[in-house]
Amino acid sequence: MRAFVVEKYAQPLVQQEVPEPEVGEGDVLVRVEAAGLNQLDEKIRLGEFAQILPYRLPLVLGNDVAGTVIRVGRLVQRFRPGDRVFARPDAARIGTFAERIAVAESDLAIVPERISMVEAGSLPLVALTTWQALVERGNVQPGHRVLIHAGAGGVGAIAIQLARHLGATVATTASAANSDFVRELGADIVIDYRSEDFAAVLSGYDLVLDSLGGENLKKSLRVLRPGGKAIGISGPPDPAFARRQGMNPVLRLAIAALSRRIRAQANKLGVTYEFLFMRADGEQLAEVAALVDAGIIRPVVAKTYPFDRLPDALADLAGGGHRGKLVVTLDD
Ligand SMILES: NC(=O)c1ccc[n+]([C@@H]2O[C@H](COP(=O)([O-])OP(=O)(O)OC[C@H]3O[C@@H](n4cnc5c(N)ncnc54)[C@H](OP(=O)(O)O)[C@@H]3O)[C@@H](O)[C@H]2O)c1
Repeated sequence: MRAFVVEKYAQPLVQQEVPEPEVGEGDVLVRVEAAGLNQLDEKIRLGEFAQILPYRLPLVLGNDVAGTVIRVGRLVQRFRPGDRVFARPDAARIGTFAERIAVAESDLAIVPERISMVEAGSLPLVALTTWQALVERGNVQPGHRVLIHAGAGGVGAIAIQLARHLGATVATTASAANSDFVRELGADIVIDYRSEDFAAVLSGYDLVLDSLGGENLKKSLRVLRPGGKAIGISGPPDPAFARRQGMNPVLRLAIAALSRRIRAQANKLGVTYEFLFMRADGEQLAEVAALVDAGIIRPVVAKTYPFDRLPDALADLAGGGHRGKLVVTLDD
C-alpha cells in the first residue's frame, strides 16, 4: 500500500510502497479516507521527539485517521466492517498517512453522523488533547475562568468550544484577523496577542491552556488565581510525565531539569504547572463524538489536500496562517 514515510529524521517525507498493516486479535483494520495533520507530525519528522518517542525508522507518519472498517480481529466486539470510525492511534502505533492502518479497538470511536470524514479526520488528536486538559486535568466547572491560548489554531478552536460547553468564561489569544472567528466559537474575551499583553488584561483565572511555552507560559502563571493551574502542551515536560513514560532515571532527571524553573515560579505564585502529552483514548473520543452529534462542538477544517500533496500540506502547517486544521484525503 502507499504511505508517507520518515526514512531519516530531518529529511523530506517519502511516498513509497510499504507492507500491509498486521491486524492483531484486538485490532481493527481501517481504510483511511482522511488524515488530519498535526504539528506533532512535523516535530516527529524533524526528530525532535526521538528521545520521548523512540521510533524505529522507517516510520509511517500520521496521528489522525477517519475511515471505514475493512475487517476486525477475533477479539473485537464494538466495531464491524463498514463502520465509519476515527481515532488518534496509540503513540507507539501511529501511521495514518497510509492507505490502511490497524488500530486497537480501545483507541477507536464511531464517527459522529452529522460530520464528513474530512471533518472527522481533523478531530481526534486535538479533541483528545482538549478533553484531557479541560475535563481530566483541569476539572473545568461552570463559572470557572479559562484562558485558551492560540484560539484560532487546531487545539484552540476545539478547546474554546469545550470550555464554553463546560460553563466557563473563556478568554483567548488570537491575531486581530481571527477575532470574530474565535468569538463565533464561543470566546467571551479576545486578546490580540500582537498588540496587547494578555497578562496585563486578565487576572483571577482558574486555568490556562498554554500551547506556546516559553515566555507565554511564564506570563500565563501571573493570570491565575492562587491555587489555579497552567497546563502546558508545548512543554517543558515535567517529572510526572517522565514517570508516566517509564523513562530511565537519567532521562527523568534531565526532564525534571527542563521544567524546574517554571515549576519554581509557579510555586512562588501559589499556582501549579503541569505538562500534558495527550494519549489515545477511544472512550473519550466517543464522548467528544456525542458533543459533535449534539451540535456543541464543530470541527474546523481550514483546507484539504489530496494525499499526494501531503508534503506541501505539512509545509503549510509549519508556515501557519490557517484557521483550525489541515487534512489530507484519500480516494477509494
Ligand atoms: N502535548 C500535546 O499533547 C499536544 C497536543 C496537541 C498540540 N500540541 C502542541 O500545541 C501547539 C499548538 O498546536 P495546534 O495544533 O493548535 O497548532 P496550529 O493549528 O498550528 O495553531 C497555530 C495557532 O497559533 C496561533 N499563534 C501563533 N503565535 C501565537 C501567540 N504568540 N499567541 C497566541 N496565538 C498564537 C496562530 O494564531 P493566529 O492565526 O491568530 O495568529 C495559529 O492559529 C503545537 O506546538 C503542538 O505541537 C501538543
